[in-house]
Amino acid sequence: MPDVLDEPIVDLEALRASIRAEYAAVASEPDRGFHFHTGYHLAAILGYPQEWIEGLPPGAVVSMAGTGNPFALGEIRPGERVVDCGSGAGADALIAARLVGPTGEVIGVDMTHEMLATARANADAAGVSNVEFREGLLESLPVETGWTDVVISNGVLNLVPDKAAAVAEMHRVLRPGGRLLAADIVLERPVSATSKLDVSLWTGCIAGGLLEEELVALITAAGFVDVELVRGGDVFAGAPQQSSAADFGTRGAGIRARR
Ligand SMILES: C[S@@+](CC[C@H](N)C(=O)[O-])C[C@H]1O[C@@H](n2cnc3c(N)ncnc32)[C@H](O)[C@@H]1O
Repeated sequence: MPDVLDEPIVDLEALRASIRAEYAAVASEPDRGFHFHTGYHLAAILGYPQEWIEGLPPGAVVSMAGTGNPFALGEIRPGERVVDCGSGAGADALIAARLVGPTGEVIGVDMTHEMLATARANADAAGVSNVEFREGLLESLPVETGWTDVVISNGVLNLVPDKAAAVAEMHRVLRPGGRLLAADIVLERPVSATSKLDVSLWTGCIAGGLLEEELVALITAAGFVDVELVRGGDVFAGAPQQSSAADFGTRGAGIRARR
């Protein structure tokens, strides 16, 4: 396995605290302007259908902070169960809840209290009752083994230092044959060991990014099959705060795979 997937070299608790602080701000001050796009503008860049966005409570849209559109990677069918890993303010979980309908169920998992509170308020505002938001880490998902048909994720895996643990958990919670639809980022140039110590590069979705082949190797090593990488666009260009994304050739990317 490439050394970029080795044990994290930043202090894990300090990194988690910074990531929580950054995304708490995305939940509570969505207009502040970040190193990445957010909100209605981001949804348009990522190609979410307008009618989906209009159907969401504004509070779910303004704090969107993903790097792709997991629903463009594969279908989600009525009656299915979905787990959204790193569900943020809940936009994708609420879209999934509509797609699976009243006979389906959605669990969103996130580690940031402010995001969880916002997501729960957004679910109430949407009047959606088949979605639940649980506090937890991707590295130890609070979801029963084999519970779900689909795992979605959007802009989160790059933020996780122990990616192998997170992907093993995604595999564990899927039923055999279940699908992974994960939007994330990839880098064209590896991040140096020095840059990996820069926590702001982590929270801005750069330092934890992988090269395309590393991302595919990570997912394959967890036991997934039919692993396909789908290239996305430059999702950081023109972000409100200057980003170093271009220095690393950071691009949006999607992974679709099957358990
Ligand atoms: C870039 S935001 C994306 C949120 C959402 N998926 C979206 O598309 O708007 C990343 C989210 O992942 C959460 N997160 C980051 N690392 C996590 C981890 N290890 N476990 C659980 N949640 C995590 C953050 O709290 C934040 O809400």
